[in-house]
Amino acid sequence: MGKRITVICENTVGPSLPVLGEHGFAVFIERKSSNYLFDTGQGISILHNAKHLKKDITSIKGIALSHGHYDHTGGLQHVLKLKKKVKVYAHPDSFSKKYARLKINGKETERYIGTKHKKEYYEKRGAQFIFSSSFREIDKDIYLTGEVPRITDFEKGDTRLLVKKNKELVSDPLRDDQSLVLKTKQGLVVILGCAHSGLINTLNHIMNHLGDEKLDTVIGGTHLGFLKEDQLDSTISQLKRYDFKKIGASHCTGLKAAARLFQEFEDKFFFANVGTSIVLD
Ligand SMILES: [Fe+2]
Ligand SMILES: [Fe+2]
Repeated sequence: MGKRITVICENTVGPSLPVLGEHGFAVFIERKSSNYLFDTGQGISILHNAKHLKKDITSIKGIALSHGHYDHTGGLQHVLKLKKKVKVYAHPDSFSKKYARLKINGKETERYIGTKHKKEYYEKRGAQFIFSSSFREIDKDIYLTGEVPRITDFEKGDTRLLVKKNKELVSDPLRDDQSLVLKTKQGLVVILGCAHSGLINTLNHIMNHLGDEKLDTVIGGTHLGFLKEDQLDSTISQLKRYDFKKIGASHCTGLKAAARLFQEFEDKFFFANVGTSIVLD
């Protein structure tokens, strides 16, 4: 079997599938040589969806985490029940104490949104963490961006996202945010977690490292649904500089930003929800 990526956790589900949606994201990556998991969703759906999408969790060689938010790391403890010993690639800040300032029932609330457990909990259950903040090739033709430099002037982070430092909640720089890149015959396939570093910063960083390759597909969460309209406008105009073939909106892209992306990119656009599968060369 050739390479294939399948969205295994996402907010919504594709047609005719007995799968579950949850606010979260995960992608199952199949290759001739080795399978990988990028993120693990919130934890409610990953094992159920893997079973119904016929993806063998025990076949994975490693897991890469996009960042430490609960909707990307919550399934890790469940995956470890099936895959007892596995390498987990992450940024050192993934276990920082992350919060969100949200309005719930009209009341401003600070809610914990970091990893469900401490690092040691997962290690006891077989996770072998390999931390790095650098751009790295974790296996042949699979790259992790590591920390993405914040260069563009229009990509502002989400000000509601916080981290606990010295008992105080301060703005979370989300340095742990990273994306995964597959080098394929048709070009680069970029899988975003939430793109908290900014979609354009992420693509620029990838092309700085793998600039000889052409960009084929961008898929995943863009966080554009939570950011201001002018950021979406600038992101779209910068995206047009890239000659990609497909863009798949997921998760924190939200309906409004997804609709804009569809309007701008038409046939290149698709929804990437649970069950969406892309065959790669
Ligand atoms: Fe997310
Ligand atoms: Fe996030």
